Amino acid sequence: MALLKTTRLISSVGSHSSALGVLPIRASSWWSDVQMGPPDPILGVTEAFKKDSNPKKMNLGVGAYRDDNGKPYVLSCVRKAEALIMGKGLDKEYLPIGGLGDFSKACAVLALGPKNEVLQSGRSITVQTISGTGSLRIGGNFLSRFHTAARDIYLPKPSWGNHTPIFRDAGLELKAYRYYDPNTCGFDFKGALDDISKIPEKSMILLHACAHNPTGVDPRPEQWKELSAVIKKRNLLVFFDMAYQGFASGDIDRDAWAVRHFIEEGHNIVLSQSFAKNMGLYGERVGGFTVVCKDAEEAKRVESQLKILIRPIYSNPPMNGARIASTILTTPDLYAEWLQEVHTMANRIIKMREMLVANLKKNGSSHNWQHVIDQIGMFCFTGLKPEQVARLSNEFSIYMTKDGRISMAGVSSGNVGYLAEGIHAVTK
Ligand SMILES: Cc1ncc(COP(=O)(O)O)c(C=O)c1O
Repeated sequence: MALLKTTRLISSVGSHSSALGVLPIRASSWWSDVQMGPPDPILGVTEAFKKDSNPKKMNLGVGAYRDDNGKPYVLSCVRKAEALIMGKGLDKEYLPIGGLGDFSKACAVLALGPKNEVLQSGRSITVQTISGTGSLRIGGNFLSRFHTAARDIYLPKPSWGNHTPIFRDAGLELKAYRYYDPNTCGFDFKGALDDISKIPEKSMILLHACAHNPTGVDPRPEQWKELSAVIKKRNLLVFFDMAYQGFASGDIDRDAWAVRHFIEEGHNIVLSQSFAKNMGLYGERVGGFTVVCKDAEEAKRVESQLKILIRPIYSNPPMNGARIASTILTTPDLYAEWLQEVHTMANRIIKMREMLVANLKKNGSSHNWQHVIDQIGMFCFTGLKPEQVARLSNEFSIYMTKDGRISMAGVSSGNVGYLAEGIHAVTK
């Protein structure tokens, strides 16, 4: 009876309780010490954009490809792969812990190239991951657990904003090396070499394989060669993040050049891949994590530990996106169509860079905007100062991250003129 009464009291908490003349019972809070966290800087840009009623508004914050009408783009090869998969009436059983085998194989072939000695000798292991972020995190956890010789991972300054919390939460110590030169809006090659040559042996170093985010500044092949030599001399463990293969130049082999060169030079790298951008599979969360090992026996041991690491986090990865990606990568017609579509996306971005600079000149800007053309990939580090960024959002409804980074994917032939007008107005 007493129990029944208590139950009634609890269920009557709220507006009824006062009507019944019963004092409300509130559970004490477990979370009163939890502080309000800062909003995500990129999602914050989108929020401000959404609230703006200006019909000319532009969201240049988020890094997702848009077509020339500003609309999200689903690749035709993806639609065809989906239809093929549907037609097969496949089941929805769990995937293995390491994901879809066909996908992992094709993912490694795409990165390393089909004739790579590493693949032929079976001295690497690739697991399917939850896109690039999941891959970086599994990689971070793996290094944290097994690379006990050092705890420090060196990131380029600046780097993708999520690298820091990913590796910090994985238990690694964050350090930085010089990368971007604000005076030239280009690569600080000397600074990078200088810093890297002083990194303690056996530390880890993160390299963006292509289309560096946020700067759009990549080393040239001769510079990669020197970087490889210095990194080898320091005996550093290389972590390549390749989130944009094909998206930078439009050519998947050219964009994988640095990764393949480092392997040829004897670096046993670890590698993160994402299919978010180059296949437009953002929400499907398709990626891969690869460890290049000394030999096949070592690769087997590493594989066993990757599985042990993944199992208590998410058991096994989702199958839909991996099926789509592996169908595209292993069906010759779809693969050819994909290469064409990646090329088209990359080219549209390259064209927008040129149009932006042409329009800035047309507006009378006397600044040197060559870096906008020289930078590569989804992002452009404009060199705009925070107060200029603020003016662009306040006066022109043009939104970007505070560091002056714009997603070129949000620029179209319809709005590039307006963007140039705004940038010119705040920089003259
Ligand atoms: C440098 C870099 N690495 C990794 C990622 C991971 O992306 P996702 O988790 O969507 O594959 C991104 C996405 O913006 C990126 O820019």
